[in-house]
Amino acid sequence: MTVREELLVLREKIDSCQRCDLYKLANHSVPGEGNVETKIVFVGEAPGFYEDAQGRPFVGNAGKLLNLLLTKVGLVREDVFITNVIKHRPPENRDPNPGEVAACTFWLEQQLAAISPKVLVTLGKWSLNYFLPTKKISQIHGVPTKVKNMVVLPMYHPAAALRNLKIARELEGDFLKNKDILQNPNTAGDLGGRSEEGGQQSLF
Ligand code: URA
Repeated sequence: MTVREELLVLREKIDSCQRCDLYKLANHSVPGEGNVETKIVFVGEAPGFYEDAQGRPFVGNAGKLLNLLLTKVGLVREDVFITNVIKHRPPENRDPNPGEVAACTFWLEQQLAAISPKVLVTLGKWSLNYFLPTKKISQIHGVPTKVKNMVVLPMYHPAAALRNLKIARELEGDFLKNKDILQNPNTAGDLGGRSEEGGQQSLF
Protein backbone atom coordinates (compact mmCIF):
# COMPACT_ATOMS: atom_id res chain seq x y z
CA MET A 1 0.00 0.00 0.00
CA THR A 2 1.13 3.57 -0.63
CA VAL A 3 1.28 6.06 2.23
CA ARG A 4 -1.85 7.73 0.83
CA GLU A 5 -3.71 4.41 0.83
CA GLU A 6 -2.55 3.60 4.36
CA LEU A 7 -3.75 6.99 5.59
CA LEU A 8 -7.08 6.58 3.82
CA VAL A 9 -7.64 3.20 5.46
CA LEU A 10 -6.76 4.74 8.85
CA ARG A 11 -9.12 7.63 8.14
CA GLU A 12 -12.03 5.25 7.65
CA LYS A 13 -11.15 3.26 10.76
CA ILE A 14 -10.87 6.45 12.83
CA ASP A 15 -14.22 7.58 11.49
CA SER A 16 -15.91 4.49 12.91
CA CYS A 17 -13.76 4.31 16.06
CA GLN A 18 -15.50 3.42 19.33
CA ARG A 19 -12.35 2.78 21.40
CA CYS A 20 -13.56 5.44 23.86
CA ASP A 21 -16.84 7.33 24.33
CA LEU A 22 -15.86 10.60 22.65
CA TYR A 23 -17.43 9.57 19.33
CA LYS A 24 -20.87 9.58 20.97
CA LEU A 25 -21.12 13.37 21.26
CA ALA A 26 -18.95 14.35 18.30
CA ASN A 27 -20.35 15.42 14.93
CA HIS A 28 -17.32 14.33 12.93
CA SER A 29 -14.07 12.54 13.49
CA VAL A 30 -11.00 14.65 12.74
CA PRO A 31 -8.32 12.21 11.57
CA GLY A 32 -5.95 14.82 10.15
CA GLU A 33 -5.01 16.13 6.72
CA GLY A 34 -2.18 17.35 4.60
CA ASN A 35 0.67 16.24 2.41
CA VAL A 36 1.13 12.48 2.64
CA GLU A 37 4.67 12.73 1.24
CA THR A 38 5.71 15.22 3.91
CA LYS A 39 8.45 14.69 6.45
CA ILE A 40 6.85 17.14 8.92
CA VAL A 41 3.86 16.31 11.08
CA PHE A 42 2.13 18.79 13.42
CA VAL A 43 0.28 17.23 16.35
CA GLY A 44 -2.19 19.32 18.35
CA GLU A 45 -4.42 18.36 21.22
CA ALA A 46 -7.98 17.65 20.09
CA PRO A 47 -10.62 19.02 17.73
CA GLY A 48 -12.60 22.01 18.95
CA PHE A 49 -15.98 23.36 17.84
CA TYR A 50 -15.08 24.26 14.24
CA GLU A 51 -12.95 21.17 13.69
CA ASP A 52 -15.80 18.97 14.93
CA ALA A 53 -18.21 20.77 12.59
CA GLN A 54 -15.96 20.36 9.52
CA GLY A 55 -14.04 17.17 10.26
CA ARG A 56 -10.77 19.03 9.63
CA PRO A 57 -7.97 19.94 12.06
CA PHE A 58 -7.05 23.51 13.00
CA VAL A 59 -9.73 25.39 11.04
CA GLY A 60 -10.76 27.83 13.83
CA ASN A 61 -8.84 30.85 15.14
CA ALA A 62 -5.94 28.74 16.41
CA GLY A 63 -5.73 27.24 12.93
CA LYS A 64 -5.63 30.68 11.32
CA LEU A 65 -2.70 31.58 13.53
CA LEU A 66 -1.00 28.28 12.69
CA ASN A 67 -1.39 29.09 8.98
CA LEU A 68 0.25 32.50 9.54
CA LEU A 69 3.11 30.98 11.49
CA LEU A 70 3.69 28.47 8.70
CA THR A 71 3.98 31.28 6.16
CA LYS A 72 6.62 32.92 8.40
CA VAL A 73 8.86 29.91 7.74
CA GLY A 74 8.03 29.64 4.06
CA LEU A 75 5.47 26.83 4.37
CA VAL A 76 1.75 26.44 3.75
CA ARG A 77 -0.41 23.90 5.50
CA GLU A 78 -0.59 21.78 2.35
CA ASP A 79 3.18 21.16 2.76
CA VAL A 80 2.78 19.35 6.08
CA PHE A 81 0.47 16.84 7.75
CA ILE A 82 -1.64 18.17 10.62
CA THR A 83 -3.36 15.99 13.17
CA ASN A 84 -4.18 15.75 16.88
CA VAL A 85 -3.57 13.39 19.78
CA ILE A 86 -7.38 13.00 20.08
CA LYS A 87 -9.52 12.45 16.99
CA HIS A 88 -13.01 13.22 18.33
CA ARG A 89 -13.90 16.47 20.12
CA PRO A 90 -14.08 16.21 23.92
CA PRO A 91 -17.37 17.76 25.10
CA GLU A 92 -17.05 21.50 25.83
CA ASN A 93 -13.37 21.22 24.82
CA ARG A 94 -12.53 19.61 28.17
CA ASP A 95 -9.08 18.08 28.61
CA PRO A 96 -8.87 14.50 27.38
CA ASN A 97 -8.52 11.91 30.15
CA PRO A 98 -5.67 9.35 30.24
CA GLY A 99 -7.95 6.56 28.99
CA GLU A 100 -8.94 8.63 25.96
CA VAL A 101 -5.32 9.49 25.21
CA ALA A 102 -4.32 5.83 25.47
CA ALA A 103 -7.23 4.76 23.24
CA CYS A 104 -6.63 7.41 20.59
CA THR A 105 -2.84 7.39 20.30
CA PHE A 106 -3.35 3.90 18.86
CA TRP A 107 -4.31 5.81 15.68
CA LEU A 108 -1.64 8.48 15.94
CA GLU A 109 1.06 5.80 16.17
CA GLN A 110 -0.21 4.19 12.98
CA GLN A 111 -0.38 7.52 11.16
CA LEU A 112 3.21 8.24 12.16
CA ALA A 113 4.33 4.74 11.14
CA ALA A 114 2.78 5.35 7.69
CA ILE A 115 4.31 8.82 7.20
CA SER A 116 7.67 8.28 8.99
CA PRO A 117 8.18 11.98 9.69
CA LYS A 118 11.63 13.37 10.35
CA VAL A 119 10.24 16.34 12.27
CA LEU A 120 7.27 16.19 14.60
CA VAL A 121 6.01 19.52 15.91
CA THR A 122 4.02 19.22 19.12
CA LEU A 123 1.47 21.99 19.64
CA GLY A 124 0.70 22.41 23.33
CA LYS A 125 1.22 20.33 26.42
CA TRP A 126 -0.95 17.30 25.58
CA SER A 127 1.01 16.53 22.50
CA LEU A 128 4.32 17.29 24.25
CA ASN A 129 3.34 15.04 27.17
CA TYR A 130 2.78 12.16 24.84
CA PHE A 131 6.17 12.39 23.09
CA LEU A 132 8.33 13.82 25.90
CA PRO A 133 6.44 12.99 29.11
CA THR A 134 9.07 14.35 31.49
CA LYS A 135 9.39 17.78 29.86
CA LYS A 136 7.62 21.02 30.67
CA ILE A 137 6.47 23.20 27.77
CA SER A 138 7.69 26.38 29.48
CA GLN A 139 11.23 24.95 29.57
CA ILE A 140 11.53 23.07 26.31
CA HIS A 141 9.48 25.10 23.81
CA GLY A 142 11.46 25.80 20.66
CA VAL A 143 14.18 23.27 21.49
CA PRO A 144 14.49 20.45 18.92
CA THR A 145 14.86 17.12 20.72
CA LYS A 146 15.66 13.73 19.22
CA VAL A 147 13.09 11.01 19.93
CA LYS A 148 13.77 7.68 18.22
CA ASN A 149 14.19 8.48 14.50
CA MET A 150 12.53 11.88 14.68
CA VAL A 151 13.28 15.36 15.88
CA VAL A 152 10.48 16.52 18.16
CA LEU A 153 10.02 20.28 18.07
CA PRO A 154 7.90 21.37 21.05
CA MET A 155 5.84 24.50 20.48
CA TYR A 156 3.26 26.36 22.50
CA HIS A 157 -0.33 25.79 21.35
CA PRO A 158 -1.55 28.57 19.01
CA ALA A 159 -4.71 28.86 21.15
CA ALA A 160 -2.49 29.75 24.14
CA ALA A 161 -0.81 32.38 21.98
CA LEU A 162 -4.21 33.91 21.17
CA ARG A 163 -4.80 34.39 24.91
CA ASN A 164 -1.35 35.65 25.88
CA LEU A 165 0.85 38.08 23.96
CA LYS A 166 4.07 36.89 25.61
CA ILE A 167 3.36 33.34 24.48
CA ALA A 168 2.44 34.61 21.02
CA ARG A 169 5.83 36.29 20.69
CA GLU A 170 7.65 33.21 21.97
CA LEU A 171 5.73 30.96 19.59
CA GLU A 172 6.59 33.12 16.61
CA GLY A 173 10.23 33.25 17.75
CA ASP A 174 10.30 29.46 18.08
CA PHE A 175 9.04 29.03 14.52
CA LEU A 176 11.61 31.50 13.19
CA LYS A 177 14.51 29.98 15.17
CA ASN A 178 13.66 26.60 13.70
CA LYS A 179 13.10 27.73 10.13
CA ASP A 180 16.01 25.62 8.80
CA ILE A 181 14.71 22.45 10.41
CA LEU A 182 11.19 23.12 9.17
CA GLN A 183 12.40 23.79 5.65
CA ASN A 184 14.88 20.90 5.58
CA PRO A 185 13.33 18.15 7.67
CA ASN A 186 15.47 15.45 6.07
CA THR A 187 18.62 16.93 7.57
CA ALA A 188 16.99 17.89 10.87
CA GLY A 189 18.69 14.96 12.63
CA ASP A 190 21.98 16.83 12.99
CA LEU A 191 20.10 19.65 14.78
CA GLY A 192 22.58 22.12 13.31
CA GLY A 193 22.38 25.37 11.37
CA ARG A 194 19.44 27.08 13.05
CA SER A 195 18.41 30.30 11.34
CA GLU A 196 17.84 33.60 13.06
CA GLU A 197 14.95 36.01 12.61
CA GLY A 198 16.89 38.04 10.02
CA GLY A 199 14.89 41.24 10.05
CA GLN A 200 11.49 39.70 9.39
CA GLN A 201 8.49 41.73 10.47
CA SER A 202 6.93 40.35 13.63
CA LEU A 203 3.32 39.17 13.68
CA PHE A 204 2.84 40.51 17.22
N1 URA B 1 -6.80 22.81 18.79
C1 URA B 1 -6.20 21.61 18.61
O1 URA B 1 -5.42 21.17 19.42
N2 URA B 1 -6.49 20.94 17.50
C2 URA B 1 -7.31 21.39 16.56
O2 URA B 1 -7.51 20.70 15.56
C3 URA B 1 -7.91 22.63 16.77
C4 URA B 1 -7.65 23.33 17.88
